[in-house]
Amino acid sequence: MADGGSEPKSSNTMWGGRFASGPDAIMEEINASIGFDKKLFAQDIAGSKAHAAMLAHQGIISAEDEVKIAHGLDTILSEIEGGTFEFSRRLEDIHMNVESRLATLIGPAAGRLHTARSRNDQVAVDFRLWVKAEMGKAERMLTGLIAAFLDRAEEHAATVMPGFTHLQTAQPVTFGHHCMAYVEMFGRDRSRLRDAIARLDESPLGAAALAGTPYPIDRHMTAAALGFREPTRNSIDTVSDRDFALEFLSIAAIAATHLSRLAEEIVIWSTPQFGFIRLSDAFSTGSSIMPQKKNPDAAELVRAKTGRINGSLIALLTVMKGLPLAYSKDMQEDKEQVFDAAENIELAIAAMTGMVRDMTINADRMKAAAGAGFSTATDLADWLVREVGLPFRDAHHVTGRAVAAAEAKGCDLAGLTLDDLKAIHGAIDARVYDVLTVEASVASRTSFGGTSPAGVRNQIAWWRERL
Ligand code: ARG
Repeated sequence: MADGGSEPKSSNTMWGGRFASGPDAIMEEINASIGFDKKLFAQDIAGSKAHAAMLAHQGIISAEDEVKIAHGLDTILSEIEGGTFEFSRRLEDIHMNVESRLATLIGPAAGRLHTARSRNDQVAVDFRLWVKAEMGKAERMLTGLIAAFLDRAEEHAATVMPGFTHLQTAQPVTFGHHCMAYVEMFGRDRSRLRDAIARLDESPLGAAALAGTPYPIDRHMTAAALGFREPTRNSIDTVSDRDFALEFLSIAAIAATHLSRLAEEIVIWSTPQFGFIRLSDAFSTGSSIMPQKKNPDAAELVRAKTGRINGSLIALLTVMKGLPLAYSKDMQEDKEQVFDAAENIELAIAAMTGMVRDMTINADRMKAAAGAGFSTATDLADWLVREVGLPFRDAHHVTGRAVAAAEAKGCDLAGLTLDDLKAIHGAIDARVYDVLTVEASVASRTSFGGTSPAGVRNQIAWWRERL
């Protein structure tokens, strides 16, 4: 915020040579948070209204003053919402901008609002309310992403694709099962948000500067008015604590990591070489030079957002590290990290939800790839165990020879003749061909949590009940 501010005074003779403006202008610039904390205006006004109502209820201020304060705050709220409020950097932050305007509007009664309160508990209230709302919003957005996945999983509960380990073809799975893996991941993110909301849900108001206050305040009343479950228990911790912000950033970082893995798969799947999916025009871009191209920019940007969100987490952890109790001004650096992370995680979830809903699945390509790379080799080994009675280790060896034979012949396992197979192990009979197809392979994976279409439908039903 280099704009506005006080006029340059003479610069400091010891170190001010390179400073165009005097030290007090620099002080104002480093000290002010209004440039970003004005985002908290609604929470700040709500906190002040709850505080004033409680002060009047407890007889700490008069009922007339409370009415004036409440009306003044309502006016300020509509001024800010209407874009006519003039924020001043000289007034440092949202709290003092609102209070100063209140004084202009209602006169001396405004000065009674800050009784039994400090900016230290005030900012903690504002920020908790903001983070709580944002956590709720992120939770709802994740629910939307999960719902999108459930629909795709339902459509493709039996669509066979290659399952990978090391990004090498491993065993056939269904696309529905793969979708449901992401449902589990985003489901955990969602439950982490719920846990964090429950922990955050205590009101800091009335902790005052750090020690509490001699006025007969009712913290339960303000907590209830602001929608918190209860007041915090320790006034020192209350003004020192930014765990709720750190938790939000941690959850956002984990969710961003999940989104980046999905984004990476979308990038890979949408290459012509894979061709598993086609992104909708709405979520891809063209190239300015290569007319044939359709680029997965949204997925790439979702993948990249992880960088700044992880960065915000590390930034705030580092700000908080080693801070003595209670409040220190360092903590003012909490907001921009959280604001930026919230904006970007929500954008990433929204973009991903759109991509998942809109993308076209190429089931033929998936199925063809699922059969490549001898992906049913494990099925052959399992058949030898089950039908021939071989120990698994021996079955593994026999299957390895079958893979080598198929490789030499240039076919897949199902392309070997019965004579080819009998030459490898005499007890193999024609029934083996039933397990060599990818459909048979996925259908056989009926263990709980496995990829069989029936199992996938069970997972979907479980989630639908809980969403
Ligand atoms: N702008 C400050 C912040 O964001 C508000 C609290 C200031 N408290 C104080 N004692 N200077 O943290």
